[in-house]
Amino acid sequence: MDKELDSLLDKYRHMQGNTIAILQGVQNLYQYLPEKALLRVSEYNNIPLSDIYGVATFYSQFKFKKPGKFQIKVCHGTACHINNAVRISEIIEEELEIKPGDTTADGKFSLDEVACLGCCSLAPVIMINEQVYGNLDDKKLRKVLKSY
Ligand code: FES
Repeated sequence: MDKELDSLLDKYRHMQGNTIAILQGVQNLYQYLPEKALLRVSEYNNIPLSDIYGVATFYSQFKFKKPGKFQIKVCHGTACHINNAVRISEIIEEELEIKPGDTTADGKFSLDEVACLGCCSLAPVIMINEQVYGNLDDKKLRKVLKSY
């Protein structure tokens, strides 16, 4: 593993009860929690791997799969939900053949369902990386996906 991980682990080495902070740091480094990194955390800080997984699986913020090059977030907040967010998710799942939480086999796209993205007046809304797409209907959504 790399130097950045080791310096993160050094920072927390003598502090007890910082498993969540360590995991957040690991996820910031890799955008998910690679198994090799969790093994390193376990060895370096003398925390049983089972305890680390116990914490990591409890919190939905932690990801165990490498995200795609293009990370799609479909808003399922209230405004988007009443404006057809379920259909938006279905179309993306059909087009990319993945479910929320998954990444396409080629590593190009990953899909997540999230709460309000903060632009409810544009509902239904998705984000692809940092780009927001709103007022989506079937046709507009398919066009957006094709553009990637
Ligand atoms: S509910 Fe979707 S952006 Fe707010």
